[in-house]
Amino acid sequence: MTPTGTQFTALQRALHWLMAVCIVAMLFIGVGMVSTIRPDYLKLVSIHKPLGIAVLVLALIRLVVRLLRGAPPLPESMPRPMQLAAHLSHLAFYVLMIALPLLGWGMLSAENYPVIVAGIHLPPIAPQSNHLHTLLWNAHRLAALCFFALIVVHLAAALFHALIRRDGVFQAMAPWRETSSTITVNTSLPYKNPVKEN
Ligand code: HEM
Ligand code: HEM
Repeated sequence: MTPTGTQFTALQRALHWLMAVCIVAMLFIGVGMVSTIRPDYLKLVSIHKPLGIAVLVLALIRLVVRLLRGAPPLPESMPRPMQLAAHLSHLAFYVLMIALPLLGWGMLSAENYPVIVAGIHLPPIAPQSNHLHTLLWNAHRLAALCFFALIVVHLAAALFHALIRRDGVFQAMAPWRETSSTITVNTSLPYKNPVKEN
């Protein structure tokens, strides 16, 4: 199944929303980990590591699906700079969804800490080194901050498309199935003042 003219495939939409929930949870668990000295720390780390590896696996699957299936075109009414911003932000998301878990895994490898997922002991992906550990720790934190910022902008853009432009971009990724008859595209863009026109 390829994207219809207006919507991502069901698999793409399922992956988008499943990953959105996992990633937001990961960001909050990560912040909770560094801001707690209570015993909760160990519980949070034990969720953070396998869930982060799950995000990595899902991101790789999603990238392959995206390369094979493509995406519905952005609306013609969308200005070129906005289209470019959308493409660049999606590219940044793919980079972060893959790089952030790798940085986390790498930083633990550099410190010789085990990463165990579903009972499987994952191999180290970086040589043991205190210097490298500090470098990767800082990179993991910086990448997580960028992720936060990008999600806020993405959320704002999604709401802008859904509520103001109403150009079908939100429906393209809506969790529910849209038929072409249920997609209402606002063709009067750019906005014209109806009062002046009368
Ligand atoms: C989508 C994936 C991930 C996200 C969004 C994420 C997010 C975060 C965030 C926000 C922090 C707190 C950063 C700070 O303020 O210092 C953090 C810390 C951390 N993350 Fe991740 N992370 C991800 C994947 C991973 C993975 C796969 C691992 C390891 C296998 C990992 C291991 C850690 C560790 C060990 C810390 C530091 C805890 C501490 O300093 O006490 N993360 N992560
Ligand atoms: C929180 C983590 C999220 C991440 C990591 C994320 C990531 C992405 C990515 C990578 C794409 C591009 C899809 C592709 O080209 O393969 C995308 C598209 C989209 N996302 Fe998200 N998303 C998140 C949350 C949300 C939320 C909360 C909303 C809505 C409120 C949303 C609405 C959309 C929409 C409408 C599109 C389609 C844009 C288009 O067709 O160009 N996303 N998202």
